[in-house]
Amino acid sequence: MAEDFSVKFTDKQYLPDPSVKKNSWIGDYQKAYNAFIKDPDSFWDKNASELHWFSPYSKVKEWNFPHARWFPDGKTNIAYNCLDRQVQNARRNKVALIWKGEEDTERIYTYRQLYREVMRMANGLKKLGVVKGDRVCIYMPMVPEQIISMLACARIGAVHSVVFGGFGAAALHSRITGAEAKVVITADVTFRRGKSIPLKHIIEEAIIDAPSVEHVVVLRRELHQPVEIHREMEVDFYDLIKDVSPDCEAEVMDAEDPLFILYTSGSTGAPKGIVHTCGGYMVGAYYTTKNVFDIKDNDVYWCTADPGWITGHSYVVYGPLMNGATIIITEGTPDYPDAGSYWRIVEDFGVTILYTAPTAIRMFMKMGEDWPDKSNLSSLRILGSVGEPLNPEAFEWYYRVIGNNRCPVVDTWWQTETGMHMITTMIGEPMYPGFAGKPIPGVVADVVDKDGKPVPHGTGGFLVLKEPWPSMFRAVFKDPERYQKYWDTIPGYYTVGDLAVKNKQGYIMVLGRSDDLIVVAGHNIGTAEVESALVSHKAVAEAAVIGKPDDVKGNVIKAFVILRLGHEPSDRLKNEILYHVRITLGPIAMPSEIEFVTSLPKTRSGKIMRRVLKAKEMGMDPGDISTIED
Ligand code: PRX
Repeated sequence: MAEDFSVKFTDKQYLPDPSVKKNSWIGDYQKAYNAFIKDPDSFWDKNASELHWFSPYSKVKEWNFPHARWFPDGKTNIAYNCLDRQVQNARRNKVALIWKGEEDTERIYTYRQLYREVMRMANGLKKLGVVKGDRVCIYMPMVPEQIISMLACARIGAVHSVVFGGFGAAALHSRITGAEAKVVITADVTFRRGKSIPLKHIIEEAIIDAPSVEHVVVLRRELHQPVEIHREMEVDFYDLIKDVSPDCEAEVMDAEDPLFILYTSGSTGAPKGIVHTCGGYMVGAYYTTKNVFDIKDNDVYWCTADPGWITGHSYVVYGPLMNGATIIITEGTPDYPDAGSYWRIVEDFGVTILYTAPTAIRMFMKMGEDWPDKSNLSSLRILGSVGEPLNPEAFEWYYRVIGNNRCPVVDTWWQTETGMHMITTMIGEPMYPGFAGKPIPGVVADVVDKDGKPVPHGTGGFLVLKEPWPSMFRAVFKDPERYQKYWDTIPGYYTVGDLAVKNKQGYIMVLGRSDDLIVVAGHNIGTAEVESALVSHKAVAEAAVIGKPDDVKGNVIKAFVILRLGHEPSDRLKNEILYHVRITLGPIAMPSEIEFVTSLPKTRSGKIMRRVLKAKEMGMDPGDISTIED
């Protein structure tokens, strides 16, 4: 791993208008941060007390490194805090959710309507025998029923495991069997670029040899040609909730009961089931949504992520709904039917807070300023970014072209494991392009060397988190060793796996992963998962993949493949192997390039040295190769 390298950057700074800070929830960053440091438990208690608890907690946390319990004897329910709390007050008839599909289709739910649908679905799940603690896999496109299903699970204490609808059968299978899901909720199709893409056959394949699955609930969207329902184990989504009672009390959950599992790619082996709990996650998602996005009652909030990722969990569904916001979700792609589609949505719905990914911003930069210029973007107030470094050029374009030099940009650094934002530039503070910012009030983070000593500004090092936070993951599902590993790498701290650097002002720039993960268009792809998909093709003997920098996606995947005897390299075989990965793992994990090779650089213990492949690919010095086998 790299260490003690110097990083060059400029001191260029953008100063927001003073009114931003004056009118914000957080007020002065430093004051808020000092209050937190002085008394962390009171800080979190104050934030937690803004939510509903069926019975209050008697202490804020118990911390036995590396295991935390937050609000340990408190009882609550996150779905109650998203819905019941809102329908009991002036937000009952406020719009909770606007869904925009392709071809101008639209559906709108008020808080009351969403509440009723969630209760019906909760009763539907109960009818299938789902009880508190059971796992439910949700494999759906971005439709309101995806969110309704998540909230229904949370309402009855079932643990949801949402799997991104773009994953293929093998990726879905390992996530279903890993979580031992009892029920899978899916849809017949997803719509993309004017076409319907079938999903149900992927589920049918994924549940072969998945003995835990008792039922599959299918949302049928193709009304002209409805897919067949196999009655023994399948049930239509709306049939399931047709005759159920419209009332369903929220289950009283212990704060430390699991709320959901979300699989994320690991640097080695199978994907990791990150476990989040009811109370701590709830407080973290609520507090950050309120303060980082400065959400107010008249905001129209649009986060473009899919609930298949943590961003969708915390900042499409739970955080905004707990704050009583009006949220927008869209099923379409940003450049369909043309590159103006996002900006028309901003104008049409009067979006005030937009939260998207650098890969989308860079794609829009490429398409030119004419597209955003066609729409009136003056409703925008705050711009957010997440998933990978927001490079200075992309920051400046976002700030100038989309925000008209007036909207603060919050580049939020965090992870599936952290559950909530950890580092950003709180609104009202000076912004340094390329730097995500400082630890938010509630978080203690630093850049250190491999022994845990802080490195001076300008010197690169490892990003670590030094103190527990409420929405920290509590476990890797059924894999305590992998949980422990996060805390053993740099003694005493949580090692996040990213390299970073600080400037004189203490702002942190995240440079990228220090391990074998490739971030493609903001999605973590484990090299191990792609390599094993490649090797599962009959012509492939061995494979290694690396990330290659890409202007738009941040990185793309390049694969080096050794063929089995009897197979000759050809373009046709390349395409066949690529197609195989695409259907196994899904389009996001598909390499953009394959090179056939006859050997791979390995250590004597047989570990593939990906950094050597990468250095060669980029025309760089491969560094220390003393451990290379041949
Ligand atoms: O490498 C960092 C990058 O994404 C990783 C976490 O990925 P995941 O668990 O899938 O969660 C993504 C959404 C929170 C991090 O370790 N990352 C995330 N946000 C940023 C980032 N890198 C730089 N800047 C960010 N704002």
